[in-house]
Amino acid sequence: MNRVAFRNLQDVGFSEEDVKQIAASYQVKDGPNDLGEMFYRPGISSDYFIAPFSTKEAAAVSNNGAVPPDLSLIVKARHDGANYVYSLLTGYQNGEHDGNDLYFNPYFPTGMVEYDDARHATVENMAYDVVNFCNGQQSQN
Ligand code: HEM
Repeated sequence: MNRVAFRNLQDVGFSEEDVKQIAASYQVKDGPNDLGEMFYRPGISSDYFIAPFSTKEAAAVSNNGAVPPDLSLIVKARHDGANYVYSLLTGYQNGEHDGNDLYFNPYFPTGMVEYDDARHATVENMAYDVVNFCNGQQSQN
């Protein structure tokens, strides 16, 4: 999410204070300082999401050789993008991939997020929110 800032999390219901705390939990590279050196500082709301891998090669090694794409503009980049991403997120199944379990998701039975409202963390609810979050970023970028 190279083009998405922490403050964009307010679009999905996090408060300004939540966002500050989330941003501050990351170390962001900044600089150069007066000595010409780069340095790390706690993140602030206007910083962009930090990529989980430092290089494409490191990303590939951790993902069975495939580099995860930047998703900042994915809804715009694909035909019928919102439906495409939703279908992708809800379409993973076991047992159809050469007998391996690469797509098995151990988090699924218990849900990956806890909703504050009455909704349950079903694949459908989570996929719906993720797609709408990505979709919302299109107009801001
Ligand atoms: C909510 C979270 C996620 C969303 C919305 C998402 C969405 C997507 C989408 C839409 C694509 C296809 C991009 C295209 O059409 O070009 C993709 C590919 C990919 N994703 Fe994710 N993803 C998520 C989480 C993850 C995670 C946690 C990982 C790794 C642990 C991951 C690894 C990958 C990889 C490696 C590919 C490329 C697959 C290939 O090239 O064969 N994704 N993702």
